Amino acid sequence: MEEKKTIFSGVQPSGTPSIGNYLGAIKNMSAMQDGYRSIYCIVDMHAISVRQEPAELREKTMKLLALYLACGIDPAKSVIFVQSHVSAHAELAWVLNTLTYVGELNRMTQYKDKIAKHSDNINAGLLNYPILMASDILLYNTDIVPVGQDQKQHLELSRTLAERFNSRYSPTFTVPEPFIPKVGAKIMSLSEPTKKMSKSDENENAFISMTDDEATIMRKLKRAVTDSDTEIKYTSSKPGVSNLLTIYSLCEGITIKQAEERFCGCGYEELKEKTAESVIKILKPIQQRQKEILLDKEYMRVVLTEGAQKAENIARKTLSKVYRKVGFVSRT
Ligand code: TYM
Repeated sequence: MEEKKTIFSGVQPSGTPSIGNYLGAIKNMSAMQDGYRSIYCIVDMHAISVRQEPAELREKTMKLLALYLACGIDPAKSVIFVQSHVSAHAELAWVLNTLTYVGELNRMTQYKDKIAKHSDNINAGLLNYPILMASDILLYNTDIVPVGQDQKQHLELSRTLAERFNSRYSPTFTVPEPFIPKVGAKIMSLSEPTKKMSKSDENENAFISMTDDEATIMRKLKRAVTDSDTEIKYTSSKPGVSNLLTIYSLCEGITIKQAEERFCGCGYEELKEKTAESVIKILKPIQQRQKEILLDKEYMRVVLTEGAQKAENIARKTLSKVYRKVGFVSRT
């Protein structure tokens, strides 16, 4: 029997995930777990590259775990764990730091965006962030990484570092491929549709959070920025309308073309209302399950303990190999 390929992905427990995170990544993480050996991480170490309130970070970590489970990520099929529980991530990151040029990190668009946004806290973690991400991926000999468009550049660095290590020492890492969905890889802000929807946007009306209630979802979508025209068409000159069509089609499980046909002759009001209804239809059962899971602390604890153990077993092996290859003396 052919061995299953490995997929790895992660989400930061900073802020409540938005439907952008769900449609661009989490939904695919859940859908892909049957065909692959899948490993899903809650990247709390990445999250502290911007200031976090400790008690809140703990709470958000558990809420994100409950969200993974509520979205159908199944611990019987996938390894689910918290990054800080497996110290090999930080250890491999150090080795990869020595293979990364500062110029490569300075060029990262997410780094540039983040230092503009957090000008009072330009810490080295923000710069080194993509190296930690590369070690997340490379520790598990990952073949495929399901992510949104915004992670593409980070994925390219992961590939470069894998190739660089392999050629400097000897073949060690699998060179990972991104899996970026054709539709939904970049869900846009509802208030500025030329900008990516972000869970950390200061304007709460710009994004729909996975925990927003029905009334909030309806209100935010009704206020979504469109344009002064009336035609419902997917085109680059109509970013707001195109974004709503994207969200609607993904929630309904239809193509953009079919969505355009459904709205042929309708006004923007109807597009916004129907999109809100289809988002509510997807989010309501997820929210209900997430609430139930959050009440079962013992279950969540078991998932994390077992997940960390499984992840640790794989990661340790890779790290030992790396340490040997770079010339570290074995402890035993
Ligand atoms: P994070 O937590 O910012 O986002 C989690 C996932 O959601 C995707 N995403 C979007 N997709 C579509 N439209 C949007 N508006 C949107 N916003 C976010 C992201 O692309 C991502 O897939 N660095 C990563 C976390 C990470 C990681 C990893 C991912 C750490 N290590 C290893 C994959 C593999 C991040 O900040 O994601």
